[in-house]
Amino acid sequence: MNESEAVTALRAAGCVFAEDEAAMLIRAAPDDHVLAAMVRRRAQGEPLEQVVGFADFAGVRVRLRPGVFVPRVRSELLVREAVRRTADRAVIVDLCCGSGALGLAVRRHRPAATLHATDIDPVAVACARDNLGEAGDVFQGHLFDPLPRGLEVDVLLANVPYVATGHIPFLPAEARDHEPRTALDGGDDGLEVFRAVVAEAPLWLAPGGVLLSEITEAQAGDAAAALRDTGFKSEVTTDDDLEATVIIGVR
Ligand SMILES: C[S@@+](CC[C@H](N)C(=O)[O-])C[C@H]1O[C@@H](n2cnc3c(N)ncnc32)[C@H](O)[C@@H]1O
Repeated sequence: MNESEAVTALRAAGCVFAEDEAAMLIRAAPDDHVLAAMVRRRAQGEPLEQVVGFADFAGVRVRLRPGVFVPRVRSELLVREAVRRTADRAVIVDLCCGSGALGLAVRRHRPAATLHATDIDPVAVACARDNLGEAGDVFQGHLFDPLPRGLEVDVLLANVPYVATGHIPFLPAEARDHEPRTALDGGDDGLEVFRAVVAEAPLWLAPGGVLLSEITEAQAGDAAAALRDTGFKSEVTTDDDLEATVIIGVR
């Protein structure tokens, strides 16, 4: 398959940036045979990052594999807010880490920080281990359960699933069909996993420690109430360009 055939196939499948995507696929494919298979996967709607096997996010390149949540550009706000609050030798936990992109992106600015990451999905855990390497430990299990006992966490990154169950059918097909439901579904109002994190966070956070989560603008009031009811001070920050909202709780 040559470049113009790849562009034609991608355009026919509705890819808006067919030329750019074809160029990326050509760079990633070792030969024509693999290229044709990659173009087919992309034309069937698989996220480009899963097809090429990596994503560039907030200054780091993470490896990806099918079935692992693709880090979103909007999560750069969460990284930015986290970096501002992370001391050089902080203990960072990346809860619900997926590929591990967020923790890695924060640690890029604080290389002496200690990083632990957890995820419930073994495919995500394997992917995050690939990405973190020596930079941090990755544990598999529900929320805080697999973390080493006695950890005093300074910065808790928790980009948990926050899509309300009823909104899942309206997500782009790329997410709906190619990312696991456990990576997306946050229950009735989208905040069920967030509330579970908030409830347990005081047991893990050092005094003055912070929790940062991405939410929707509409969830801000309820998310702030959950933090307040658990004794946190809370702050909401948004970035219109990134269409991102982050809630920050300070213990
Ligand atoms: C929205 S994705 C975010 C992934 C990553 N933090 C990122 O921003 O790229 C949510 C992740 O939470 C994980 N997850 C869902 N429920 C979990 C739970 N109860 N305990 C641990 N991880 C969970 C999913 O497997 C998925 O990788």
